[in-house]
Amino acid sequence: MEPVRAVPPPGRPAPPRAGSPSAALELARLLREAGYAPQQIQERLATGDQLLARSPELPSYLRRLGDADEPAVLLRLFLLGVPVARERVDQLVGAELRARLAEAGLLVEDSEAVHGAARLVPHDELLIASDPAGAAEGHADHVPGVHRPSVALAHLTVRREGERALDLCTGNGIQAILLAAHAERVVATDVNERALGYAAFNAALNGAANVETRAGSFFEPVEGERFDLVVANPPYVVSPESAYLFRDGGMSGDEVSEHVVRAAPAALAPGGFACVLISWGLDPDDPAERPRSWLEGSGCDAFLLHTSTDDPVETATVWNRDLLDRPEAYAAALDRWLAYYRKLGIEQLGYACLVLRKRSDGSDGWLEARQLPRAALRPAGRHVRTLFETHDRLAELGADRSLLDRRLRIVEDAVVTQDTRFTEGSWRAGDLTLRLENGLPFSAELDSPTARMIRALDGSMTLREALAAAVESDDRPTGLALARRMLEIGFLELCE
Ligand SMILES: C[S@@+](CC[C@H](N)C(=O)[O-])C[C@H]1O[C@@H](n2cnc3c(N)ncnc32)[C@H](O)[C@@H]1O
Repeated sequence: MEPVRAVPPPGRPAPPRAGSPSAALELARLLREAGYAPQQIQERLATGDQLLARSPELPSYLRRLGDADEPAVLLRLFLLGVPVARERVDQLVGAELRARLAEAGLLVEDSEAVHGAARLVPHDELLIASDPAGAAEGHADHVPGVHRPSVALAHLTVRREGERALDLCTGNGIQAILLAAHAERVVATDVNERALGYAAFNAALNGAANVETRAGSFFEPVEGERFDLVVANPPYVVSPESAYLFRDGGMSGDEVSEHVVRAAPAALAPGGFACVLISWGLDPDDPAERPRSWLEGSGCDAFLLHTSTDDPVETATVWNRDLLDRPEAYAAALDRWLAYYRKLGIEQLGYACLVLRKRSDGSDGWLEARQLPRAALRPAGRHVRTLFETHDRLAELGADRSLLDRRLRIVEDAVVTQDTRFTEGSWRAGDLTLRLENGLPFSAELDSPTARMIRALDGSMTLREALAAAVESDDRPTGLALARRMLEIGFLELCE
């Protein structure tokens, strides 16, 4: 019978190693040639881009794959974590690729079979190695693969060409590798040597030659240095445990988030950005209160891009999924986590990407919070940067009066759609929706006056003229406030 869960390799192998940059690139090339590439893998497993392969899915994946060709063997070893008989590997994996995999420490054998020593998962065009599935328990230094928060952070990062970048808490190195594509130089830090091993290997495998790894806690390895961009996906989970370095920061409550946010400004060059994933005990009456307090006197402007608010049960459930197939341990963990939140008086937990921008003159900055829609995120760094730029321009303009005399235009990414409904025997026009096709996935329902105003805002007239042409005089103050809001969010832009 086919296995129902991944089998960790014997002897807990060390992270793979590159040998030399050219050997790593050659390995990546051979893997792709053998069908180990994002699109082929998705087609082969009939899956979307979320290759989680949890235990319940494994039997179907294995049946879909078979074991009669090279991609099937490689996917079993490196994606699904299932051992393969030695003869099968010898028969089906080309001698050159087999030798390269062994040289990189990606294969381990026991008396029965060959095991993948690491997980190797495609992320867009990249291949990212991490610790094998099902091998976390009992190992605080376990290095996980790319997860949803990693992807969210990558999408929200404000990127500029040629900059000096820092990836704090690099883990498997995914952020550093993405930074390497546009930054001149990237420093990737982690307190976990095992993570740094994976980060270095992944950088080499993906041809990122400008990534330097450094060991140490948070900002210690870069003390006194300044960067144009800092990205951080720290162990921000508010958790009572210290089981895993990737999740439990070893501080109380939301202190990891607080520590990183308070320390980041000192590592930023003037005009530099920091994009930091955070979680905090949230007060529903003022959700941004804690992050705002962490930034007092920081000399930074900030957007709090609020991704979700969870209750304690939801948070405890999400972060203990690895225990799902052990019901008693799972229930005990939920009780422990819930008791912890009760003790701290936390009734809601906020999750966000906090984007900071260092002011050039060190003066006090502002913080604006934006609730992001539940819709899936997509690359939005340019949009995030526009939020800052628009905020600056509106501050320069000052009163709404000046805005009235500016020409505004709907952005090219904006699309208006209308539902039509068949009711009471005929088709009727329904709600109008405005949404953005790129960047942050904001959308808004439009009433008729707002829709008319938007149509008038094609850049040819000032806001005052558009309001006069499209909106009844009583509704104009509302129209002005709406236009300002749409500008702040990025539906509208200033023409000059
Ligand atoms: C959530 S993982 C981030 C992985 C990766 N950057 C990503 O975006 O997917 C958090 C990382 O923080 C590291 N870490 C935990 N405590 C740390 C500390 N005090 N200083 C630096 N890194 C730390 C962990 O080892 C882990 O690799």
